[in-house]
Amino acid sequence: MALWSGRFEQSVGEFTQRFGASLEVDKNMYRQDIHGSIAHAKMLAEQGIISRSDFEHIEVGLLEIENQIRQGRFVYDINDEDIHMAVEGALTEDIGAAGQRLHTGRSRNDQVAVDIRMYAKSLLVDLMAENFSLRRVLTRAARKNFNVVMPGYTHMQHAQPVLFSHHLLAYFWMFTRDFKRLYDAFVAADANPLGSAALAGTTYPLDRFRTTELLGFDHPTQNSLDAVSDRDYLLDLEYACSVSMMHLSRLCEEIIIWSTTEFGFITLSDEYSTGSSIMPQKKNPDFAELTRGKTGRVIGDLVSLLVTMKSLPLAYNKDLQECKEGAIDACQTLRDSMICMEGMIDTWTVHADRMLEEARMGFTAATDVADYLAKRGMPFRKAHEIVGELVLYCEKHGKGLEDLTLEEFRAASPLFGRDIVGELDPEAIARARTTYGGTGHEAVRDQLREASRKLKADRRVVKNIRERGAVI
Ligand code: ARG
Repeated sequence: MALWSGRFEQSVGEFTQRFGASLEVDKNMYRQDIHGSIAHAKMLAEQGIISRSDFEHIEVGLLEIENQIRQGRFVYDINDEDIHMAVEGALTEDIGAAGQRLHTGRSRNDQVAVDIRMYAKSLLVDLMAENFSLRRVLTRAARKNFNVVMPGYTHMQHAQPVLFSHHLLAYFWMFTRDFKRLYDAFVAADANPLGSAALAGTTYPLDRFRTTELLGFDHPTQNSLDAVSDRDYLLDLEYACSVSMMHLSRLCEEIIIWSTTEFGFITLSDEYSTGSSIMPQKKNPDFAELTRGKTGRVIGDLVSLLVTMKSLPLAYNKDLQECKEGAIDACQTLRDSMICMEGMIDTWTVHADRMLEEARMGFTAATDVADYLAKRGMPFRKAHEIVGELVLYCEKHGKGLEDLTLEEFRAASPLFGRDIVGELDPEAIARARTTYGGTGHEAVRDQLREASRKLKADRRVVKNIRERGAVI
């Protein structure tokens, strides 16, 4: 029987029951629902709205249900629309009248809002912790391959030599900003809507600050209509997930390219590769491709919620039930994708020789040759033109810049001396980029130190959240 059976003569049909239910998705947040209810009941008892003994029965009953669900012993009734009805129904069956008092001064509208916010917070902390692990893996790989030189690209054309460690650390900083975005989404979710009731608050003397404290929220929401109507914190969550997936996807794209026969920069381990059912030689970077593919779905989750929300009048509308699935999917997908990326990086083989070989190709020293002239007094634009002509000359004669004789250099400009040879070595070229944030060895060493400091600080952020009991 539905909770609202008093006003109805008929119940919904079997089809509409199923169509209207959110139980399958809600099962994910049974703990949040139960602990939200315990906090509500405790506060009701403290305020003298229900008796102490009712609260004790409610608490024992709810903890028992939590156990049953955790151990897979709880039998869900398919007639229950959502987790709130499933738990309350079972509680009332178990403990009788006290169970029927639990919902005093509460609506499923504030109940679902508080459950989702608590669940979002717990998903976000897990993501922050995983993001931390991923960045640790990246710094480890950067340290291990510190001196490896690769061609840096713009437009996918050889540009200038860079350290492979510098390239990996570029992703470190992207993921560092993702951590901040996840944290910001956590802060957005960290407000307690419980006590907003259906839409307008309630006549019972609820202490919303008390449930805020009991549930580890930062503060109570300030407006009851807003509290039950908006899901913008889930948009923040999905945006944070989307951006991080986009970063992972770019790295996946590079991993796919690097592992081609043409590049041969890395070989993925067997664990992170698959074969072909027909071509015996194949070793495919399936998991990198899959992560790239899943990025589309997570971005879809974000867009889907934006579209769901955009025309909703205040306050609660059933459309809001649709907000949970995408948010959970985005978090699970990002988490799995980060774990997969950690494994790929931890087990790949880096071919330093191939990278160096390519770093010499494609006239990657040209900028430094032009800088050589400019540092000897030639205006840079003029130097650029002369080196451009040298490159053209090389192309016509099938040579690299390193194959040119001093005479050939001098024919282009008398400013060239014997020491030009030193400007052509990719390792030296990278080393010379000493600006803060550049690819020079010393600059990258400093960068690694800064990365370690940032990691330590972010680990403290996760630890603090967990220690202050902010997640249920
Ligand atoms: N199953 C609903 C949801 O997930 C719970 C809130 C229902 N409230 C209501 N007035 N129908 O959004």
